[in-house]
Amino acid sequence: METILEQKVHKKLGFEHLEAVEIVNKLDVLLCNYQIFFHKLQNYHWNVVGGEFFDLHHVTQEMYEKGLKNIDEIAERIRVFGKTPEYRLSEYSKKSEIEETTHELSSEYMTLNLISDIGTLTSFIIETSHTAQDNGDLGTVYMMNKLIKEFETYHWQLSSWTNKKYNS
Ligand SMILES: [Fe+2]
Repeated sequence: METILEQKVHKKLGFEHLEAVEIVNKLDVLLCNYQIFFHKLQNYHWNVVGGEFFDLHHVTQEMYEKGLKNIDEIAERIRVFGKTPEYRLSEYSKKSEIEETTHELSSEYMTLNLISDIGTLTSFIIETSHTAQDNGDLGTVYMMNKLIKEFETYHWQLSSWTNKKYNS
């Protein structure tokens, strides 16, 4: 007679191999983009200068601290499917649509760049959510929905701070 343990080993969470690969591929691209975004937040946190120093210094710290936790959850969600999350720094920038910037930027450019990157990240999060939904993966959908809400709030706050409308 088949034990409960054997059933779990042979069929992870009820997902077939192809379904899992589809979800994991989306999570992996999101992970790579978020890693580049995370390092950009630290760059801006350390190197912002001028009158907006304290505002940008504080919000970027808040965002990278949340980012550290979110990135960990995305990577561990990939492990739940038995796959290996991307861990090579050299691959993060290759696979990421979000690009690195320099430290020699005005605080206004930094803010507008963050707003733009949040739009990019949110589009990957929504794509991941749809793929997970299509495959009945409610755990990933739940994770993505929390992330969407978090980034929508930052998008609104940063946009309001720069007096820009949502489609900056
Ligand atoms: Fe700091």
